[in-house]
Amino acid sequence: MDLYEYQARDLFEKHDVPVLRGITATSPTQAEEAAQKLGAGVVVVKAQVKVGGRGKAGGVKLAKSPSEAAEAADAILGLKIKGHTVRRVMVAEGADIAEEYYFSILLDRTKRRYLVMLSKEGGVEIETLAVERPEALVRRSFSPLDGMTTTLARDIATEAGFSEEEITKLIPVFKKLYEAYVEEDATLVEVNPLVKTSSGDMVALDGKVSLDENAAFRHPDHAELQDHSAQDPLELKAQKMGLNYVKLDGSVGVIGNGAGLVMSTLDVVAYAGEGLASQPKPANFLDIGGGANAEVMANGLEVILGDAQVKSVFVNVFGGITACDEVAKGIVQAFRILESEGIEPKPLVVRLDGNNAELGRSILEDANLPKLQQVGTMDEAARTAAELADSAVTVNA
Ligand SMILES: Nc1ncnc2c1ncn2[C@@H]1O[C@H](COP(=O)(O)OP(=O)(O)O)[C@@H](O)[C@H]1O
Ligand SMILES: [Mg+2]
Repeated sequence: MDLYEYQARDLFEKHDVPVLRGITATSPTQAEEAAQKLGAGVVVVKAQVKVGGRGKAGGVKLAKSPSEAAEAADAILGLKIKGHTVRRVMVAEGADIAEEYYFSILLDRTKRRYLVMLSKEGGVEIETLAVERPEALVRRSFSPLDGMTTTLARDIATEAGFSEEEITKLIPVFKKLYEAYVEEDATLVEVNPLVKTSSGDMVALDGKVSLDENAAFRHPDHAELQDHSAQDPLELKAQKMGLNYVKLDGSVGVIGNGAGLVMSTLDVVAYAGEGLASQPKPANFLDIGGGANAEVMANGLEVILGDAQVKSVFVNVFGGITACDEVAKGIVQAFRILESEGIEPKPLVVRLDGNNAELGRSILEDANLPKLQQVGTMDEAARTAAELADSAVTVNA
């Protein structure tokens, strides 16, 4: 999970990394009030979007008074930066910048180590620096068992060309940033720029933090950092139900067990759709996993049927540990649950294969469910589902 700059700022503050005060605002009036709260000095109004290069795109503006802050917010809110619409700004204290540096810690999975990068030439995008002036970027991999020692901090700063006075000030900042990285279970902590102010202090002016979602169980407080406004409502619903669901753009809903099977189902559906008039494509990825019971199946169907773009649904199950008769019972019960909730079914194509497939098929046949048909092979089932979606669109047109 990537954080917004203001969330990274808060997190840095929590770990005693030197930052400037910042207050978020979603309207010019709020920005004006925020500037007032921050006091007399210059403030900076900054677009809160999860992409870099905001400065160049007009998303970072200086304001010398609260009314100027309101004007800046008015100009920035609603702006589109690299495809992201700005819905919030942060009004931050203005720094008196002498120099801009770059610092980051990230996870190097292949080496099972951490990587720290440092440069005296910050402010610019790191990708550009790495390509154009690689010698200006110090990179050092280190063991999580050692952590950010004083020796390591001193070494990288020396190699990057900092003065003794600067090094003394940088060492505790690097250590605090490392502490934030480890204690929050981050996979990336980047500060660009880390600035030296005219009075010689080191301040983290722009932070980028990615948190490891696999460690979420250790951090109940991270849940509220998640940004639901940018998330697809169906994905949000599926997430609350504990489903592995990704919304796609097509009209054929897909449910399968096992990520690999679902991935290949998407391919087969897309291929089947290519020859048809409306070229139907998969509407989603949904893996109901191994031990899928009726409730999981019902939840999955409910999410998919809640997608207005869906015209047909393809349930593709290969019985393994979960036998097909269990899955079939699940589908039947799912229909009952949906019926009781008043959810209208859509044409459903089911392909059952593998463990206890025949028993599963006969259970579905006996249940005589509306709009459900069974097809023997995956290719044929994909074609049927694509055709059903296609004819639904063509009829409506
Ligand atoms: N609080 C601040 N005070 C003064 N200047 C700032 C402040 N925040 C950012 N800047 C200036 O704006 C530039 C871009 O801001 P930054 O937060 O790094 O956004 P981005 O990386 O998205 O362009 C910085 O390199 C710095 O020169
Ligand atoms: Mg930056």
